Amino acid sequence: MCGIVGAIAKRSVSAILLEGQHRLEYRGYDSAGMAIFDGENLNRLRRAGKVQQLDDALKATPLPGSLGIAHTRWATHGQPNERNAHPHLSGERLAVVHNGIIENYAGFKAELQRKGYTFTSDTDTEVIAHLLSEELKTEPEFYTAFRQVIAKLEGAFALGVIHADFPDQLLCARKGSPLVIGVGIGENFIGSDPMALLQVTDRFIYLNEGDTACISLNEIRVHNSEGSLQALDIKRYEHGTQSADKGQYKHYMLKEIFEQPGVFQATLAGRLEQGRVNDALFGEQESQLMRDVKAVQIIACGTSSHAGMVARYWIEELTGLPCQVEIASEYRYRTTVTLPGTLFITLSQSGETADTLAALRVAKERGALATLAICNVPGSSLVRESDLCLMTQAGPEIGVASTKAFTTQLAALMILTLSLAKQRGLSAEKEAELVAALYSLPAKMEEVLTLSSRIEALATHFADKQHSLFLGRGALYPIAMEGALKLKEISYIHAEAYPAGELKHGPLALVDSDMPVVTVAPGNELLEKLKSNMQEVRARGGELYVFADVEAGIDEQEGYHVLSLPKVHPMMEAILYTVPLQLLSYYVAVIRGTDVDQPRNLAKSVTVE
Ligand code: F6R
Repeated sequence: MCGIVGAIAKRSVSAILLEGQHRLEYRGYDSAGMAIFDGENLNRLRRAGKVQQLDDALKATPLPGSLGIAHTRWATHGQPNERNAHPHLSGERLAVVHNGIIENYAGFKAELQRKGYTFTSDTDTEVIAHLLSEELKTEPEFYTAFRQVIAKLEGAFALGVIHADFPDQLLCARKGSPLVIGVGIGENFIGSDPMALLQVTDRFIYLNEGDTACISLNEIRVHNSEGSLQALDIKRYEHGTQSADKGQYKHYMLKEIFEQPGVFQATLAGRLEQGRVNDALFGEQESQLMRDVKAVQIIACGTSSHAGMVARYWIEELTGLPCQVEIASEYRYRTTVTLPGTLFITLSQSGETADTLAALRVAKERGALATLAICNVPGSSLVRESDLCLMTQAGPEIGVASTKAFTTQLAALMILTLSLAKQRGLSAEKEAELVAALYSLPAKMEEVLTLSSRIEALATHFADKQHSLFLGRGALYPIAMEGALKLKEISYIHAEAYPAGELKHGPLALVDSDMPVVTVAPGNELLEKLKSNMQEVRARGGELYVFADVEAGIDEQEGYHVLSLPKVHPMMEAILYTVPLQLLSYYVAVIRGTDVDQPRNLAKSVTVE
C-alpha cells in the first residue's frame, strides 16, 4: 500500500526521503514522487514504476532543500501513471501526500471546480490540496487551516503536507492509516512506519487515530481529534535480531523462508520452560481473565486467517472451547452473535490491516470479554488497541508473500492453545509431550530446508501450468489453502484449495493431466481417506505432488511425485508442512520469472479496506 515519508531538517532531505521510499517498497506500489522546498520554490518530481526510476530522475534533476515530502503510491483512484502519482499540488506552493481513501471527495471536487480550481489528476488526494488552499484564504494560520480541512474529510487517511509560504512547518494527520513521527535532534520526520526512517532515527511517536501534528525543527505539537494538545510519548524502536536486508539470498522471500527455524524458536523463547507453558503468559491478573473465557473468535485476513483456521482445530481439540474463525472484512459488516465470555483474537503480521483493525473495533462494541492481538509489529495499531498481545518474533518481513510471519503466528497460537488447555484440565504429561514437539520443530524445519533442491526440481512441472489444486484434510486443509495462496500470489498460477473430502462434490471435474494436484499427506489418522482421494485424481489422469512422511507409505510411481518429509507430532504437522509448500511456490515463481518479492497488484500492508 502507499507509503509516506517527510522531513524537516537543516540539511538536504532528498536522499533521506529516497532511502525512506526504498525502505517502503516492500509495501507494494506502482509510482513514486517527491516535493521539496528549496528556500524559494516548491519543486516536484514523479515517476510511474519503481522508486529506482525516481532515483534515476533525481540524478538528472536533483531536488535541493531541507523541507520535503515523498510518496510511493498504490493506485486506488485513477491509473498508476505519473499524472496520478503523489505529491499533489495546489498552485505552485502547496504539496500533499496521502495514503488511504477520501470517501466524500466527489462533492468537494465539484464545488472546487465551480470555484475555479483546475484538477490535474484523477485522484481523491488532489481535493485535499485545493481544500487547504481555499481554507487558507480565510484562515491565516497553516496548521489551523489544515485541521479545519481534516474535520471535513471522511474516509481513511494518513497525510503529509508542506507549503512554501510556511517553510518551518511539516504537517501530518492520521485517521485509519498508520503514520509515525521520527524524532531527531534539530530535525524531525514522518513515515508510514518506523522502517522508513530507521536510517535517521530510532525514536518514534506513534500517532493515534484522529491525531494531527505540526512539526518544526525543534518542536512537535500533536493534537487529538478533539483538539487537545497531547503529551509526547516517544518510544525507542527495538531492533530485532533479523536485519532488513537480503544478505546472501536472491529474494527476501527465500531469506524469510530460511529464517523460520530461528524465528520460530525465538517466538517460543520465554513462553515455555521445563516442558511447560509459562503460567503467566499475560501476567497474573490476566490468568484469571483467561480462565473466564468460554469461547474464542479469531479474525484475520489472507495468510493470517489461515493461521486462525489451523488454530481452530487445535483449540477445539485441546481446550473444548468453541472457536469460530472469520475473515475480517466479512465479520465487520454482518450481524454476529457474540457468545458470552468470548476471547476475541486478531491475527496480523503488520498490525495495520484496515479490515482487521475495524473488526477489532466492532468486536469491542459487540461485547467481547477481552481482545488479544497476535502480531509481529510492536507499537502497531492493533497491538495498541487490544487488551492483550502476544508478539510473534518473526522480525521484519519484507517479501509481500507472508512466510515466517505465518509459522510464527502458528507458534504463538499453539502456545496460547496450550495455555488455555492447561487451565481446562490438560494433563501435565500431555502438556510436556506437546511442548517437546514444539521444541523439535526448528530442527525439523532445518531438515525440510535441506530438501530445497528437490522441491526446485518439482517446481519445474508447474512452470507451464495455468491451474492447480491443493488438497488436505483436518488442520492440513488450511495449509493446503495457504499453499494455494502462496502459489497464486507470486507465480500467478490459478490455485484452489479443497478439503480433500470435497473433491468428488465438484472440483474433480477439473482434473486432467494438465492439472497438478498437490496433497499434504502426513501419516496421520486421516491418511487412508486422503489416499482414496488421491486415487480418484489418478483415475482421471491427474498428476499428484505428494508431501508425505515416511510412515505414510506413499511411493514414487507413475503420476505420484513424492517428497518425503521428517516425521513430526500430529499436532505439529500443519506447521512443518507449510515450509515445503512455501518453497514450491517460491521456485515456481522464480522459474516463471515473476517479481517474487513484489508481486503485481499486491501490497504488503493493506491499510485501506
Ligand atoms: C499473503 C499475505 C496476505 C496477508 C494479509 C493480512 O501472503 O501476506 O494475505 O496475510 O494481507 O496481512 P496482515 O497479516 O499484516 O494483517
